[in-house]
Amino acid sequence: MSQEDERPPAAVLFDALGADYEKAFAHAPAHLSALEWLTERLPPAARTLDVGSGTGRPTAAALVEAGHSVLGVDVSPVMVELAARQVPGAEFRCADIRDLPLGSDSFDGVCVFFSLLQMTRAQQSALMRRLALALRPGGHLVLSTVAADVEDVEVVFLGREVRATSFAEDDVIAMVEAAGLTVLSRHSPTFTPDHPGAGPEPHLFLYCRREETRG
Ligand SMILES: C[S@@+](CC[C@H](N)C(=O)[O-])C[C@H]1O[C@@H](n2cnc3c(N)ncnc32)[C@H](O)[C@@H]1O
Repeated sequence: MSQEDERPPAAVLFDALGADYEKAFAHAPAHLSALEWLTERLPPAARTLDVGSGTGRPTAAALVEAGHSVLGVDVSPVMVELAARQVPGAEFRCADIRDLPLGSDSFDGVCVFFSLLQMTRAQQSALMRRLALALRPGGHLVLSTVAADVEDVEVVFLGREVRATSFAEDDVIAMVEAAGLTVLSRHSPTFTPDHPGAGPEPHLFLYCRREETRG
């Protein structure tokens, strides 16, 4: 087996896609609205985490532009290199978020935009629990995914074969709530990526908060 075959599938896929991903998705109106919602709720100079930070656009770029500090984590070295070049005001780390230790109560805001789909259901649930703990009480998290009751199915994504796992919409919400977050609102837009042959995709965006500890 080659060295590349042993790498996480998301690293192989997104190393191959690189800037094509940004061209296809970065202008999605629901993504931009979610960033606006988050930035309106962050305290000045907030500390934020972007899980699966891709090319840094639009997420890290918008957060830096709004005056916040950003740690972007991505498993794809190509994406991290692109992001570091495009958003020099943010910090990017090439790592698998499943293995990266996260301090408790250490972020005011967390973004998880379409970065769960190459993880098993158990890994997605475990990660959400860790992200909820990494968020300070009263902090906000925005999450997007493609909600579908599928496990390790093969799909063609921007012309490449990839295996994907997700949950039906209500089960995504149940996973987020089980992690200890309150879902304040949900949005289910359809978006067609700017890529030859791409069709409409059903997206799910959740706007969430970690409640203040009581008592
Ligand atoms: C669909 S892209 C979305 C990129 C960006 N969040 C956006 O919406 O523009 C998913 C990104 O998550 C990254 N990713 C997937 N699984 C990951 C993991 N286990 N750890 C870190 N990054 C991961 C991929 O490399 C890819 O850059």
